[in-house]
Amino acid sequence: MMGTDAEILLGVNVDHVATLRQARGTEYPDPVLAAKIAQQAGADGITVHLREDRRHIQDSDVLRLPGKVDLPLNLEMAATAELHAMALRLRPYECCLVPERRAELTTEGGLDVAANIEPLDDYCAALLEAGIRVSLFIDPDPVQIEAVAAIGVPIVELHTGRYADAVNPEQRVLELRRIEDAATRSIRAGLQVNAGHGLNYDNVQSVAGLTDLTCLNIGHAIIARAVFDGMAVAVSEMKRLMVKARQAKGGGNGCSR
Ligand code: PXP
Repeated sequence: MMGTDAEILLGVNVDHVATLRQARGTEYPDPVLAAKIAQQAGADGITVHLREDRRHIQDSDVLRLPGKVDLPLNLEMAATAELHAMALRLRPYECCLVPERRAELTTEGGLDVAANIEPLDDYCAALLEAGIRVSLFIDPDPVQIEAVAAIGVPIVELHTGRYADAVNPEQRVLELRRIEDAATRSIRAGLQVNAGHGLNYDNVQSVAGLTDLTCLNIGHAIIARAVFDGMAVAVSEMKRLMVKARQAKGGGNGCSR
């Protein structure tokens, strides 16, 4: 997704609607329906993570989404041969490459792009040639940003997990500065900057106020809120908080449509 200078975009990750469904092997709740409601409620894009172990989102969900939801689809995936072939077949709007370990509860850290420039370069080249916008999910680390720029993909997504998990205000400010610095470096390197992981209704505004960021991808907190208040309220409230924080900063993410 690309936005105008003053915009902050919300990509809604619907993985955990599928988590609830897979817990009982039922056909409901349907993550595609959740994506449709998210669209009506103001989401700017939909993200699904097709994990290697298929613990939540299934291949059939990814296949059904484009016909049912008229928003850019961001397919998160590990850089495996199987998912490469699938992405080339499906041609989603965007692919975000993430590290994956089967034992982890969620994506625990960013990709080590710097240590894998050559294989990632080849992997991304085929996706880019197919017209897919490629994003690499990294920790907010200058070394990784340089590596992403060297590969020549258009987007970087900064991992906000350490900010979200900060145990005191001082650490939180430090992690926020790290994200801000990484965003500035990424913009200078010509990258669009997205961010996500662990963002919720209490911590989103400081991140949304960083004017170099184009899009925040948020899942768990929105689906958790939806259990009590419904999907539409959960999405529109998150978007409202983000827009309010951005408006307070006067906008300007250095990116145009
Ligand atoms: N961005 C990326 C690349 C992710 O892997 C995830 C988790 O799947 C998210 C954003 C969303 O994180 P959360 O569910 O904590 O909002």
